[in-house]
Amino acid sequence: MPTFKKDFLWGGAISAVQAEGAWDQDGRGPVLMDMRSQGSVNEQRKLTYKLKDGTPVKVPYFAGKLPDLPEGAYFSPVEDEIYPSHVGNDFYHRYKEDIALCAEMGFKMFRMSISWPRIFPNGIEESPNQKGLDFYRDVFLELKKYGIEPLVTLEHFDDPLYLITELGGWLNRELVDHFVRYAETVMREYKGLVKYWLTFNEINNSLAILDMIAEASDEVYQESYQKLHHQLLASAIVVEKARTISEDYQIGCMICGLASYPLTCDPKDMITMMKKDQKDLFYCGDVQIRGEYPEFAHRLWAEHNVAIKMEEGDLEQLKRGKVDFCSFSYYCSSCTTDKDVEMDGKGNFSMGAKNPYLEYSAWSWSMDPDGLRYLLNLLYGRYHVPLMVVENGLGAHDTLESDGSIHDDYRIEYLQKHIAAMKEAIHDGVELIAYTPWGCIDLASSSTGEMSKRYGLVYVDRQDDGTGNFDRYKKDSFYWYQKVIESNGENLGG
Ligand code: BG6
Repeated sequence: MPTFKKDFLWGGAISAVQAEGAWDQDGRGPVLMDMRSQGSVNEQRKLTYKLKDGTPVKVPYFAGKLPDLPEGAYFSPVEDEIYPSHVGNDFYHRYKEDIALCAEMGFKMFRMSISWPRIFPNGIEESPNQKGLDFYRDVFLELKKYGIEPLVTLEHFDDPLYLITELGGWLNRELVDHFVRYAETVMREYKGLVKYWLTFNEINNSLAILDMIAEASDEVYQESYQKLHHQLLASAIVVEKARTISEDYQIGCMICGLASYPLTCDPKDMITMMKKDQKDLFYCGDVQIRGEYPEFAHRLWAEHNVAIKMEEGDLEQLKRGKVDFCSFSYYCSSCTTDKDVEMDGKGNFSMGAKNPYLEYSAWSWSMDPDGLRYLLNLLYGRYHVPLMVVENGLGAHDTLESDGSIHDDYRIEYLQKHIAAMKEAIHDGVELIAYTPWGCIDLASSSTGEMSKRYGLVYVDRQDDGTGNFDRYKKDSFYWYQKVIESNGENLGG
């Protein structure tokens, strides 16, 4: 039976804004996430700002349109809140220890992101911040020491705040140039140290979350599609430029992998699912992998009176900027229906009807390894390029025992079943080349900001109340994953 190739890239993944911390050190500029306080499963994270006279204001915010700030007000942390991105898991100061732990597990690949505002603090500078460049050089050299291949995301939820507040964010086409300058800088700087790049993390989220915004107006749709056009364009330009910088470079897209099922066998539910897949899954992948907007895009735009402003040459640019591989995150699946049922199946940037056949995590995300096999087949069947699963895992509460052990058999079971599903997909004929489960070292959750939503194989002593000293502890899953990698995915035993 075909199984993992011998050079399969086993590893783990983190992002700068959730792991590094050191948010105001060595010249790093602020990002919107730095102004988002910690929330919980029941309480949304708040976006905070101060009025002209310093009065603090907090507004619940997940994603989408930003609140309009009164004149003179500015985004800022406020005194009595905890901001997860300010400290992350302290990777900025502990990357050597973390990389050594990854090497001990046998990692072949380490997915991380470069923080754009560490390189260009406001996004608009002419020359980069040397301290930022030095930091990532040190990280890449450390990975090289252990023979671990970096997989580098250029943008993972951390655009420089200045670009958002002063330039209006991705709605402004100027951001394309700023992003390209940043990408070109780091791609030149780290030539020979990095081979695999991803342009935007979960680029399709901005479309998927439209369904979560109650009564999103046509204006909201217009803005989302326009912003996305600029990002897709920026991505395509970067891909084209990368090829002139190094022949070795392999560039991929990164899509939020949303597996959907019709809630019932009513054909109407199936059509609802088809349309959801078109918008949330294929729209971005088709542009980035096939190089053109799909036919169904015209109908999606028309349904919300969207007219994307494009310049001459944009469509040709998209064609010239096709990626080499497709990477995606996968955590859970959801059900679609055209009926008015309660949408209580939460997920990664998505909502759906609850699936009675599945179990759900403490954060109400379904656990569905078959969904991963299905998605792998779906994406490979459509695109026929190598696939990478660059995020996967179970966010769960862990207990640190008095002897420093963490017995996370629930996580082992989740990962075990998902690796078995990947094996099945390879047997189905899918070309899968890498697996980097999410948050391999515990880090701050993106949706809730909680540290207690842990994904790691390594436990980090940092608690939701802000206590803890960031010490690292190996969980049971650490030793288990070590055996999985050692056996190239053959030994999945618990
Ligand atoms: C993906 C993101 O959406 O899901 C990660 O790329 C994120 O940044 C991950 O952390 C898991 O989501 P959460 O909300 O549990 O952290």
